[in-house]
Amino acid sequence: MPSFSRTCLLSFAGAVVTVLALSVSAQSAAPPQTPAQNWPWMNKALSPDQRAQLVIQQMTLDEKLNFVHGTGWNGLREHAEIPKGSLGGAGYVEGVPRLGIPGINMADSAVGVRLSGAGSHYATLLPSVLGAASSWDPKALFLFGDVIGRELRETGYNMSIGGGVDLARDPRNGRNFEYAGEDPLLAGTMVGNIAKGVQSNQVMGDIKHYAFNDEETGRNIFNAEITQRAARESDLLVFQIAIEMARPAGVMCSYNEDTITPPDTSPDWSCQNDYLLNQVLKKDWRFQGFVLSDWDGTHSAVHAFMSGLDQEQPGSIYFGEPLRKAIEDGQVPMSRLNDAVHRVLRSMFANGVVDNPPQTEEVDPFLGRRDAEHIADESIVLLRNADHILPLSAGSVHSIALIGGHADVGVLSGGGSAQVDAPGGGAVNSHSGSAHWLEHVWFPTSPERNIRLHDPAADIQFNEGADVQSAAALAAKSQIAIVFVTQWMSEGMDRPTIALPDNEDALVEAVAKANPHTIVVIESGGPVGMPWVNQVEGILAAWFPGIGGAQSLADILFGNVNPSGRLAITFPKDDAQLPRPQIPGLMAETEPGGLPEAAHQHKPVPFNVDYNIEGARVGYKWFESQHENPLFAFGYGLSYTTFAFSDLNVDVTQRTATFTVSNIGSRAGGEVAQVYAILPASTGENTYKRLVGWDRVTLDPGESKTLTVPMNQLTLSIFDVAKNAFVMAPGDYTILAGSSSADTPLHATVHVE
Ligand code: BGC
Repeated sequence: MPSFSRTCLLSFAGAVVTVLALSVSAQSAAPPQTPAQNWPWMNKALSPDQRAQLVIQQMTLDEKLNFVHGTGWNGLREHAEIPKGSLGGAGYVEGVPRLGIPGINMADSAVGVRLSGAGSHYATLLPSVLGAASSWDPKALFLFGDVIGRELRETGYNMSIGGGVDLARDPRNGRNFEYAGEDPLLAGTMVGNIAKGVQSNQVMGDIKHYAFNDEETGRNIFNAEITQRAARESDLLVFQIAIEMARPAGVMCSYNEDTITPPDTSPDWSCQNDYLLNQVLKKDWRFQGFVLSDWDGTHSAVHAFMSGLDQEQPGSIYFGEPLRKAIEDGQVPMSRLNDAVHRVLRSMFANGVVDNPPQTEEVDPFLGRRDAEHIADESIVLLRNADHILPLSAGSVHSIALIGGHADVGVLSGGGSAQVDAPGGGAVNSHSGSAHWLEHVWFPTSPERNIRLHDPAADIQFNEGADVQSAAALAAKSQIAIVFVTQWMSEGMDRPTIALPDNEDALVEAVAKANPHTIVVIESGGPVGMPWVNQVEGILAAWFPGIGGAQSLADILFGNVNPSGRLAITFPKDDAQLPRPQIPGLMAETEPGGLPEAAHQHKPVPFNVDYNIEGARVGYKWFESQHENPLFAFGYGLSYTTFAFSDLNVDVTQRTATFTVSNIGSRAGGEVAQVYAILPASTGENTYKRLVGWDRVTLDPGESKTLTVPMNQLTLSIFDVAKNAFVMAPGDYTILAGSSSADTPLHATVHVE
């Protein structure tokens, strides 16, 4: 969200005046009313498209125009007026009460419903999306969306504007925690399931930020450069998979500019890029919902509207009076306005928000916490377990030093528009109301308390970790040391480096030196560097673990839950291994830390981000094609038991890989069996493998299961620009199966004619 500025305030004031004027004239122009029960569009036997058509026939120009823009900044900005009917969420679109059509109340809800503090109600904080995606469990992600949809409905909202799925091209992107990682098939499937879960509650869903908003630095000014083929096989593919799976009501276009070649010959904003919106999204993917701009991401009236943007948010700078004039002058045909309105209305009918408006009731915090904990159980990734330090055994651990990360009181959450308000105002620096922008918020769920519950007899002491020496002294006199390190992330900023902030590396090193039995728990938005990796015995990636995270962590530390999360993103050794060792534009914006907010004040120079360096080789594909070993590979994660893979058979006609997974250890546990393909040399994309399918399986000790994993046609294919289609190239395909992108013991070669 751009900062609160005088210019925005003025334009907002303009928007209010416009909206008031529109609603007055709408009323005066309204035809006489038919009794509600006779409205033909209320006939549920008709299709959403038929019902939308019937409503449009009754709508005045003013009413139609109201549907293609928002009503202002609502609850997001101090002093912004909250229009009648709005709940004060991020966006509001006026309805047509005389025709029984409700307004659209939109809430940010990437990892839970935002602004609950301002509304004095409770909202469940789920694990980060990146964490949840590390479960590789579509059911868990559906549940994730279900929690959000349920709580939106219970608080009166009928549209989520969560659903972030930008590909993790850069591990330092401040919003990676809102996204589902670096692989198009995994991320698209995960976020598609979130949107399905949201929409299962008769709440409209959304997928964002379309497209290439893969860094936050200069997000309002950078131009993403990429070839069409690479685009279709990477950032656009992830959207395609999520959108075709969930059929969301909305797709939010992004702030940045793009040059996708061909057809683009010069940069244009995502929210007015004809290729992205009209050609790919609406024509190729047959998206029937509406495109809404990111907040203040609209740049023109006629150009944007004709390029496929259906709704300006949050105000009406372009799609208010300027669009009305363009329609009256014949620059924009009425058919296009009807099309945009149709898309909004048909989405409302299709998702039940007209027939079944939200019924507000109290959110059940206990239900939400249980769901969040279940997802966290599957999300946390065990990265290292030297000498089987984990799981801890309550009977034999007599003293534990807990160090850092405010682990005595809470767990960290991510910031920006994804921020969920902590009940009671947060475990650290608590205050009433909603969290402030860029505030670091700890949720009141205490790892220390939960660890004590598992080992009540142990001497457990906490040291906040600010003073390295005293932390090391506590570690030295304890049997086990557990260090909690944190890396806060937020919209509006990137981390300049993957290295941990605030002297945390020195803290871990000192503790590890003082105590050979050191375990590190990482609460982070994404990958972090670990110069101490071989000096500690245990490492857990807990992401931002959500309101059930402390329970999950303690259960995993003590073995009540066997870790089954697998990385949805590569952990590089350091920044030098990345396609862009420095974040483009970070130097162009002086302070603080390359914030886009700073961009508004300093009039920075627009810059290009060259995504052709890696092209479609995002994440692990880049590492493999460069013959670079990361710190931890995509798909990696340990268990307290051991799995073996055997007997691969590939059926080319059915596009399936069949193989057996066995639990050869002594505990029950979950494995994510992953299937990758290396394409024929003729594609030029044979220097790396790509995920084509997976299955998650839970096995008792000694148990084996034969899995038949469908292989996704899209990721087995390359994008043929001339044909505008994905095609499978003829030739030899290597199919691999195993437990991570770097560990694929099973291979088979199949020939495709
Ligand atoms: C963010 C969106 C968010 C919107 C409304 C923008 O700054 O990029 O993701 O939905 O604000 O809060």
